[in-house]
Amino acid sequence: MKLIVEKDYEEMSKKAAGILVEEIKNNPSITLGLATGSTPVGMYKEIIKRYKKEELDFSNVKSVNLDEYVGLDGSSPSSYRYFMNENLFDHINIDKANTHVPDGKADDLEVSTKKYDKLIDDIGGVDIQILGIGTNGHIAFNEPAGELSVGTSVVDLTENTISDNARFFDTMDEVPKTAITMGIGSILKAKKIILLASGENKKEIIKRLLESDTVSTELPASFLLLHPDVTVIVDEAAYKG
Ligand code: F6R
Repeated sequence: MKLIVEKDYEEMSKKAAGILVEEIKNNPSITLGLATGSTPVGMYKEIIKRYKKEELDFSNVKSVNLDEYVGLDGSSPSSYRYFMNENLFDHINIDKANTHVPDGKADDLEVSTKKYDKLIDDIGGVDIQILGIGTNGHIAFNEPAGELSVGTSVVDLTENTISDNARFFDTMDEVPKTAITMGIGSILKAKKIILLASGENKKEIIKRLLESDTVSTELPASFLLLHPDVTVIVDEAAYKG
């Protein structure tokens, strides 16, 4: 695992955006694995800035997102589809038909999880996957547990994650308790992985991750130790506190 420590959130975002932009320039038909949450917002802003300044072309770029809340569709401002449109897709020349987010309102959620894995395989897999990390060590919504799913699955969110996510909702009752998430196996299939973390509340989990020399389902991010090309980009607050 390669570690890059940047001064602050802005520098972390610029660093990650710079890597993505280079990858897109080198491969205009790239498939990006994308994350939501607070952490990648600055990176998306920077990508949009560079799209407007440089001749970046997303017309053949494809994307797959890590997860979506069960019960929400793209019209809900709290859904991850809505987040992606607002924070990135509406500002670049990506074809929305090439952007994929799990369907939180699928009639048959189990079938939709299988379909999502097939879709990822059919488009040739993810070239570069962006990840955030939960304060409990989750990646995507693979929560610490006795077992972790290999492929995309429907998961119950832990109390810790529900309370972390509450800041995006008006009331506690509205915070979804279940989500569809790409599995650890789906994530590890990506050719390259970038994990971002910012802020003091991530310091403890980043320390645990960087000090791990075993993998444990109780620390889902530890499975990244099995991947040959992972870069962890953090700001000083998430590293030194
Ligand atoms: C989001 C996702 C989650 C977040 C994580 C950190 O698509 O899969 O794993 O990356 O919960 O969230 P933030 O960035 O809000 O701290």
